[in-house]
Amino acid sequence: MAELENIQNLRENFKKQNKSCFILGASGATGKELLKEILKQQLFSNVTIIGRRKLTFDEVAYQNVNQQVVDFEKLDEYSAAFQGHDIGFCCLGTTKAKGGADGLVRVDRDYVCMSAELAKTGGCKHFLLVSSSGADKHSIFFILKIKVGLNLIIIWIHFCMA
Ligand SMILES: NC(=O)c1ccc[n+]([C@@H]2O[C@H](COP(=O)([O-])OP(=O)(O)OC[C@H]3O[C@@H](n4cnc5c(N)ncnc54)[C@H](OP(=O)(O)O)[C@@H]3O)[C@@H](O)[C@H]2O)c1
Repeated sequence: MAELENIQNLRENFKKQNKSCFILGASGATGKELLKEILKQQLFSNVTIIGRRKLTFDEVAYQNVNQQVVDFEKLDEYSAAFQGHDIGFCCLGTTKAKGGADGLVRVDRDYVCMSAELAKTGGCKHFLLVSSSGADKHSIFFILKIKVGLNLIIIWIHFCMA
């Protein structure tokens, strides 16, 4: 009971801080659920989704969601999209089947790292990355090797693991 009250207090205090966040990959399976939950919780005063295409939402809950459409191959030109957010969530990703090995590296590692760097430069304090359980440099699975390298690079950009 006391724990629940504590969580509610934390939530209320957080709301009062008027934090803003961005989500990368909000059109995907994970990102969609995350966006839905973030809007339901109403924890942030500003929610921005950053993606390669504009999304359409019918529900009222989504009416204040800001959208930034970027070209991930020219991400430097879109640094403004990453400015002024307190927290970033990254649900970007592809598969070897969809993008081939090169595509997987490009999206799951390069796009994520470039985004994290721009976010950091833009003032973002926390970057939460959907990585993968089982990430291991010795894994026989290519994706799990990529993920462990990626985790280290994000730490190197000076975001803590969350
Ligand atoms: N789903 C799981 O159970 C699970 C488990 C462990 C880890 N993960 C990790 O979680 C992350 C998200 O997984 P998911 O299942 O949600 O993936 P998903 O449904 O395929 O969504 C991927 C997201 O990345 C974007 N994306 C893909 N290729 C892109 C490209 N070339 N340029 C720009 N954006 C691109 C997609 O945008 P579009 O809609 O425009 O294509 C979409 O928003 C991945 O890193 C994955 O490895 C997922």
